[in-house]
Amino acid sequence: MKPSEDERQVDLTKFTSNIPPFPKCVQKVLMMLRDPRIQLTKVAEVVSLDQGFAGKVLRMANSAYFGLPRRVYNVTEALVLLGYSNVRNVLISASASNILSKAVEAYGLDAGRLWEHSVGTAYASQMISRKASMQIYSMAFSCGLLHDVGKVAIDLALRDEDKERMLALIRSVGVMRAEGEIIGVTHAAVGMEICRRWNLPEEIIDAVGYHHKPLEAGTNSLAAGIVSTADRCSRLLLEGATTLHIHEFQGLPEGSYIPDVKMLRQLSDELPAMITSSKELLQAAAEEVAKPLE
Ligand SMILES: [Fe+2]
Ligand SMILES: [Fe+2]
Repeated sequence: MKPSEDERQVDLTKFTSNIPPFPKCVQKVLMMLRDPRIQLTKVAEVVSLDQGFAGKVLRMANSAYFGLPRRVYNVTEALVLLGYSNVRNVLISASASNILSKAVEAYGLDAGRLWEHSVGTAYASQMISRKASMQIYSMAFSCGLLHDVGKVAIDLALRDEDKERMLALIRSVGVMRAEGEIIGVTHAAVGMEICRRWNLPEEIIDAVGYHHKPLEAGTNSLAAGIVSTADRCSRLLLEGATTLHIHEFQGLPEGSYIPDVKMLRQLSDELPAMITSSKELLQAAAEEVAKPLE
């Protein structure tokens, strides 16, 4: 899918150039995982070539968030125990944690807040997709995790006075209109371009690019619609809601996935704990490696 006419006129590189590339080994592994017959031991060999990154993957795999049945001390064992879809999830989490954990001042988010929201959206996307479409399931976590990455790029590109203007406008007219007035492009379009530069799969690129207008995502509308709903779940629970109600999902953009009561109950029960353990996941990502891990 292509960005809209208005967005195409804005030079996105002034935003995306502030975001570092994805680790080469992850780009390679994501290609390998397109083959469902690929052995995870082969994937581990590629990850292990980058020792620093492999250590981060291992620490994150061992955190409560991914819930391995026992503590593991080498990457091969960790990836095999995680299984196919979680391998992709842990690798994308390890690649994006530095970027998503920054303070995002233009949007009023202190350090760590966007990370919590992103992990909450990732988990909710995965839960919803389990019911909505198993085809999307393996990518759903990544789509949710990265959906607002464009906000970080925009924040990094704005001068302090523009960040203040943006935040004031967001508080009066909302995120999308404020972005339109101040920079002429949305965080979704910027995020889409970042995912494209990272060589991520088309499903992720479109789900990120269209999470505020799912119907425009063409063949990936359902993925974008799931992220739109998961985004709302994560935001409501982070704002202190204890239970999610159907009426809170009525104003979502067209094409958003409409959850039923049972699903909302499950999300209300499980999501807060996952958002809490996202902090531990971030700590694991940031730890220094004291000794070789294998
Ligand atoms: Fe968003
Ligand atoms: Fe969001």
